[in-house]
Amino acid sequence: MTVPTLARAIRAVMLTPEPHDKVMAARNVVRRWRAGELAMVFDVAMPDYPARPDKPELLPPNAMPKRGRGSAHGRLALLHALAHIEFVAIDLALDAAGRFGTQMGRQFVDDWLSVAADEAMHFALIARRLRTLGSFYGAMPAHDGLWDAARETAHDVAARLAVVPMVLEARALDVTPATVERFLAGGDERSARILQRIVDDEIRHVRFGTTHFAAICDERGESPADFWKTLVERHFRGVVKPPFNDSARRSAGLSREMMAGVACL
Ligand SMILES: [Fe+2]
Ligand SMILES: [Fe+2]
Repeated sequence: MTVPTLARAIRAVMLTPEPHDKVMAARNVVRRWRAGELAMVFDVAMPDYPARPDKPELLPPNAMPKRGRGSAHGRLALLHALAHIEFVAIDLALDAAGRFGTQMGRQFVDDWLSVAADEAMHFALIARRLRTLGSFYGAMPAHDGLWDAARETAHDVAARLAVVPMVLEARALDVTPATVERFLAGGDERSARILQRIVDDEIRHVRFGTTHFAAICDERGESPADFWKTLVERHFRGVVKPPFNDSARRSAGLSREMMAGVACL
């Protein structure tokens, strides 16, 4: 019997639309990979777009309904938005491993598959919390456009790392402490605890990004700070702006010097 390939296994998860199924499938691929049940062979391309469930309805960012900030409904809408981010993050991590694994090697694959397992867990935790609070993932519209960064950086692993973990995931390090406070202030300690746990994992995800990015810079003879700035300017449409969570960013490998290069002050 031939061993199934990692690329085919990853592609199958990305093309699984239903959230519960995708979570189970993602965990299963990671487990099989760690058990040596998948060949490190990249014999199929990653899909341009992962499969999505019928709900949530995906809206352009500027068409998203406003969330009331202080209210219980506002906090529920925020949890829903975070569930969606984690859901997309499962496919982002899988895509990194499946798309760039062949050129980047085993450690890269190990790292991004472990990220995929974390994101599946993050999504499951928030989705369960939504249910406990009487809602569910899919009950509200969600932000269409999180996959844009994947499309924009599909051609180059350096660009992917520069934008997805090092800008987008790193942003969570800055904003989550205030979000945790907001849930605590609203008396929702359980959600606050879930978000705190998630941010601890996100530091590790960003660190994987900075570590592999540094290795690529080494190989290409680029300075990490300059190359990051160039790639962010070229491939990221938003702005990187303070306040930054300096200590969390430092733990993730993003020094003040690195931040000074890309920050819009
Ligand atoms: Fe996450
Ligand atoms: Fe993450």
